[in-house]
Amino acid sequence: NRKKTILDMQRMKAAAEKISVLTSYDYPFTRIMDECGVDVILVGDSVGVVFDGYDNTLPVTIEEMIYHSRAVVRARPKALVVADMPFLSYQVDFRDARLNAGRLIKEGGAEAVKLEGGKGVADIIQAIVEIDIPVMAHVGLTPQSIHRMGGYKVQGKQEEQAERLLEDALAVEKAGAFAVVLEGIPLKLAKKITEELTIPTIGIGAGPYCDGQVLVIHDILGLCEKYSPKFVKKYADCQAVIHDAVASYISEVKKGEFPTEGHSFN
Ligand code: KIV
Ligand code: NA
Repeated sequence: NRKKTILDMQRMKAAAEKISVLTSYDYPFTRIMDECGVDVILVGDSVGVVFDGYDNTLPVTIEEMIYHSRAVVRARPKALVVADMPFLSYQVDFRDARLNAGRLIKEGGAEAVKLEGGKGVADIIQAIVEIDIPVMAHVGLTPQSIHRMGGYKVQGKQEEQAERLLEDALAVEKAGAFAVVLEGIPLKLAKKITEELTIPTIGIGAGPYCDGQVLVIHDILGLCEKYSPKFVKKYADCQAVIHDAVASYISEVKKGEFPTEGHSFN
């Protein structure tokens, strides 16, 4: 059980071994999921929605991403740690993009970064890869493009749009990305992209034919009640577990049942 690197991602695709990815934003969740042997931990900018309570990922800052990356890395996970580049931290110019990617590595302790976009950001991916920072790409439904898309909508349903998404995926591979997230696209398109690319595809709302799968940890644990898209599978109802524990604590304190003498010092 050694440290996983980007070389393992390539090897797993070649061996047709599925890649498991989960988001994490803190130390305790990271410890638990790493104990389970998850392959990749993504410090996603979804932190803005599931942790900070924003409506979308746009307000998340590079400082916040560094802060959460550090908390994750302190758990010393064997999983590869990838940190999201938040909105406006890579789009303005190459200098910004390299500096902010570098900060996620140097200050955050991440081992790779992820950014959203296809053809339009291929030169930015290349600029970051050139300074030896591995980049995971992300195409299809890209949450930072919410205002262009007019909401979180499945992308690539029309043939012309699907063709463009395939071109996006090919462009990010050519730019040097080591893997690509395919989000919110029809399963047939995801299958085709996965077959055409040599780098692994990590699906979310993209069907069963990708090389790997990513979900938001709060979603699989039932800790995000705001929305529940079709592609999420809830593996536990932690909301109910936490609710019951907190309610029991309050009730026992009110009734004077806790603390007992047994919880006290003489
Ligand atoms: O921010 C995030 O959690 C993500 C994944 C869901 C792909 O980008
Ligand atoms: Na993200």
